[in-house]
Amino acid sequence: MAKSKTVFFCKECGFESAKWMGQCPGCRQWDTFVEEPVIKKSSSTSAKAGLRIREPQHIASIKTEEEKRFPCGIEELDRVLGGGIVPASLVLVGGDPGIGKSTLLLQMCREIVNKGKKVLYISGEESLHQIKMRAERLGVFNGELLLLCETNLALIEDTIQKHKPDIVVIDSIQTMFTEEITSAPGSVGQVREATGTLMRIAKGIGITIFIIGHVTKEGVVAGPRVLEHMVDTVLYFEGENHASYRVLRAVKNRFGSTNEIGVFEMRGNGLAEVKNPSEFMLKGRPEGEAGSVVAASIEGTRPILVEVQALICRTNFNMPRRTAAGTDYNRVNLLMAVLEKRLGFQMSDCDAYVNVAGGMRITEPALDLAVVTAILSSYKNVPLDDKTILFGEVGLTGEIRAVNMAEQRVIEASKMGFEVCILPQANKEHIKAQGIKLVGVRNIQEVMGMLRR
Ligand code: TYD
Ligand code: MG
Repeated sequence: MAKSKTVFFCKECGFESAKWMGQCPGCRQWDTFVEEPVIKKSSSTSAKAGLRIREPQHIASIKTEEEKRFPCGIEELDRVLGGGIVPASLVLVGGDPGIGKSTLLLQMCREIVNKGKKVLYISGEESLHQIKMRAERLGVFNGELLLLCETNLALIEDTIQKHKPDIVVIDSIQTMFTEEITSAPGSVGQVREATGTLMRIAKGIGITIFIIGHVTKEGVVAGPRVLEHMVDTVLYFEGENHASYRVLRAVKNRFGSTNEIGVFEMRGNGLAEVKNPSEFMLKGRPEGEAGSVVAASIEGTRPILVEVQALICRTNFNMPRRTAAGTDYNRVNLLMAVLEKRLGFQMSDCDAYVNVAGGMRITEPALDLAVVTAILSSYKNVPLDDKTILFGEVGLTGEIRAVNMAEQRVIEASKMGFEVCILPQANKEHIKAQGIKLVGVRNIQEVMGMLRR
């Protein structure tokens, strides 16, 4: 007889508990527990469940095959995947609704199909007609791209067994369900069970499955965090709603590094790769304006030049307003405190708005020097030279500290036509100038001196 009971799951991280709790011990979020019935089939032997016992093997007897990754053809995606798609892996692509996950994976399908592979795209969100309409916007599709609208996992498994595709895309794990669990699709139990089933299929038949998962802050739908630990690779697709560029980031990767990012631009005919993000980020930059400087930043292993803007003006309130968009708010406060103490500026009666233009979010300390300089430039109303770029970490005593990958930053700056690079003195000593003038600085007093010129 089926044994029925209910358990409580955390909507955020999937923590399971027999009783309700106000705060999740797993992720420390409040009020995230939901009650879900769990009906597991009564115990069946492995033979009944169609399972086959596998013998453990000696490690020496296991042959290491050449890694058979194959590049999908979209360079930005391949880079994030760690050099291509690994066979028999499970990849989760998470992101806010409407960010372009379906579009990205449909474009990937097209490239793979063109390489002669068989792809099955299963959607639980859109009708075949809608997918076809989207495909028409994206361009020509040919070859063996199979589409299926289905949400029942048992039927999906049968279809996969029957057609044996190389790649399967599941458009949104939150719409999938198995009949063994009575809770609604999108609930924590269903999402976990569905992912488990897909994992078994991927490893069992040796196909790669891409799962799309919506990130949800609130609501009844379980977020992809619940299944992060189950899959091989977790990619997040992010971007601002008002900006057209999108960043694909690896959060977890069993087959590669998690440092890489891929940059895309959403256009009328789908996502276009942005091969040169620096150029993209600096488009439309004001020249010769106080409060705007360019920083050489690193995302993963890629240098990206971004514009940092600051606006400092007298406050009308007792408490000055401080905002930081695209960078760490606390870091901005800290840097302003350093400026007050070390340079003696009275900023406690000034509002400060700091913004990394373009909608990029950068939290590395190497941005400090640019933030400080932008603030100084706006405060003093003195622009920095257009062809000058900076990077460096600012310490609490106002010292400028060395940062990693300085050479890559300088090379990128030089490539993008900058003529002067202000960088930590400690970094300067190890870099040979390549068509760009390097100016080493030791502390913020020296930076201040440069602004006055
Ligand atoms: P979609 O891939 O459906 O997002 P998700 O699957 O992550 O929910 O993308 C939806 C958005 O992308 C939608 O707001 C319209 C936009 N879009 C374009 O701008 N150009 C295009 O060619 C396509 C297909 C979508
Ligand atoms: Mg979608």
